[in-house]
Amino acid sequence: MRKSDGPVVHTRELRKRYPRGVDALAGVDLDISAGEVRALLGPNGAGKTTLVRILTTLLPPTSGIATVNGWDVATEGDEVRASVGVAGQYAALDGLLTGLENLHLIAKLRGMRWKAARRAAQEMLARFRLEAKANQQVSTYSGGTRRRLDLAAALIGGPPVVILDEPTTGLDPESRLDVWESIADLTAAGTTVLLTTQYLEEADRLADQVTVVDHGRVVAEGTTDELKSASGLTRLVLRLADGYSLDTAAAVVAATTGTTPTVEARLRRISATTVDGPAALAVLLSSVDGRAIAEVGVQRPTLDDVFLRLTARREVPA
Ligand SMILES: Nc1ncnc2c1ncn2[C@@H]1O[C@H](COP(=O)(O)OP(=O)(O)OP(=O)(O)O)[C@@H](O)[C@H]1O
Ligand SMILES: [Mg+2]
Repeated sequence: MRKSDGPVVHTRELRKRYPRGVDALAGVDLDISAGEVRALLGPNGAGKTTLVRILTTLLPPTSGIATVNGWDVATEGDEVRASVGVAGQYAALDGLLTGLENLHLIAKLRGMRWKAARRAAQEMLARFRLEAKANQQVSTYSGGTRRRLDLAAALIGGPPVVILDEPTTGLDPESRLDVWESIADLTAAGTTVLLTTQYLEEADRLADQVTVVDHGRVVAEGTTDELKSASGLTRLVLRLADGYSLDTAAAVVAATTGTTPTVEARLRRISATTVDGPAALAVLLSSVDGRAIAEVGVQRPTLDDVFLRLTARREVPA
């Protein structure tokens, strides 16, 4: 159910100031088109949950515009809620009901008839390996199990937009794969997905586009490839021959790149992020005994390098 064409999620100059708090959102412009999977990536406190809560009408913005499917979150909350599936760090499940009852209820709220809703609930329980818990009260679920039910609730009935706040945080590896598969299925079916994550791998794997937020602002946007290129960073990698000191070589790499290198002792590998890989490589080759070098090269930065650089939580050279 859409009010208008145009971006499915749209914000302009969106701001949120909590009472006696900082600006959790300090002017966010975001446009997500139909069928897109967008990852919102940012460190703790960046404003991800605040944005999700505003888009899902759980929280009013202080100022600015936010629409979902063309509906304004401030004045058309009912329409927004009817057109979005949400799972979040603040799950809206009823602990006194069983898993099956919760899903059945939500499917009916999304407009499905009794029988179809029941069938959909059972399908979702199977998809998220929750059948064994189907008839237990949700208040008795473990954290990870509750999370999977929360996701099932977000996806049931096939809402056209799905907003997920850290969908895989706290899940074991197998459950994480289940969630990734479900999101991939949604994408294939044309659902628009906005998900927040602190896992770069997850953003890389699932999203078409990544929006990096920090201190309530968008600090970068693009495909992961574009973010890597735009960062200008490279990664210098050196593998040391046997018999040569890792510490000595690491000190040379540190002096060359101006950062603290990563040392993987077992692999005898030293790597460091740098803005000018080829120049650093030339310096390195002139200052290390050639026999000590088993392998050396310049690689593309990892998404971690890019993220740390953008959000400046750790020192990376300017
Ligand atoms: N209810 C609140 N009252 C006051 N300040 C708040 C409230 N909720 C969040 N904040 C502050 O707003 C900022 C953004 O918080 P938010 O929860 O949106 O970040 P986040 O990106 O979701 O972080 P995390 O990765 O830890 O989930 C933080 O500085 C936080 O302390
Ligand atoms: Mg959060």
